[in-house]
Amino acid sequence: MCGSLIGGATLINMVCDKKTAFKLVDQLFSWYEATPFPSDISNNLAHEKKFLVDKYKSTKILKQTVSKSQLCHISVTRWCKASGYATASHERSERCARVTADVAAFTAQLLNKHADGLVESAYAMSATATECRSCHAKGKTFEEGGWTRGKMDCDECHGTRGKEINVAEGHYTD
Ligand code: HEC
Ligand code: HEC
Repeated sequence: MCGSLIGGATLINMVCDKKTAFKLVDQLFSWYEATPFPSDISNNLAHEKKFLVDKYKSTKILKQTVSKSQLCHISVTRWCKASGYATASHERSERCARVTADVAAFTAQLLNKHADGLVESAYAMSATATECRSCHAKGKTFEEGGWTRGKMDCDECHGTRGKEINVAEGHYTD
């Protein structure tokens, strides 16, 4: 799991009741999966050295990627491959610092919206997860596929790249 999400989810759980925390963490995770990082805001703040820190690993404007996953492994690798920077580079460290800033800011916004009584339904699960979860979700019968309970974008791991997922014809046959 991307550590920035652990931070955001922990904070949400410290100040919300369990049911609310479930909803907000789901939104935080769905937003993360679909958002290009680092955002323009954090790219520019770092470029102009306007974060409240003294040291920067890099002040370059960094390439943005959509992680399509909450996992550190996928998020980092996708960014490294798109940017051409290795995992041990200063730029990669800086990229993750900016992602953390983006996640912290978004978490604060989610909590503020919730405190203002606004309905937070803007960030939904991916279309694939929604579709697959019509059978593969908690609470369904075993025979229908109810032996999973994930909410991540299924396609990321189960889709064979470049091939269509075809539920009707028995998923991915080869
Ligand atoms: C209409 C209900 C239904 C939907 C929708 C559905 N599944 Fe399934 N899935 C099943 C059932 C039932 C099985 C077990 C029987 C079998 O192996 O064919 C299964 C088996 C699987 C398996 C085990 C290996 C395999 O290929 O048989 C995987 C992986 C899987 N589903 C992933 C997915 C993903 C990803 C999606 C969304 C793209 C999805 N399923 C949508 C009902 C469904
Ligand atoms: C981060 C990767 C990842 C994501 C995302 C993911 N899965 Fe899986 N899934 C796995 C792995 C790994 C297994 C175990 C495969 C094995 O051991 O055969 C698995 C197993 C399954 C199985 C049982 C497969 C079998 O052979 O019986 C089903 C069904 C399944 N996942 C459905 C889903 C659905 C539906 C989603 C989206 C809501 C999803 N998965 C998202 C990695 C993932």
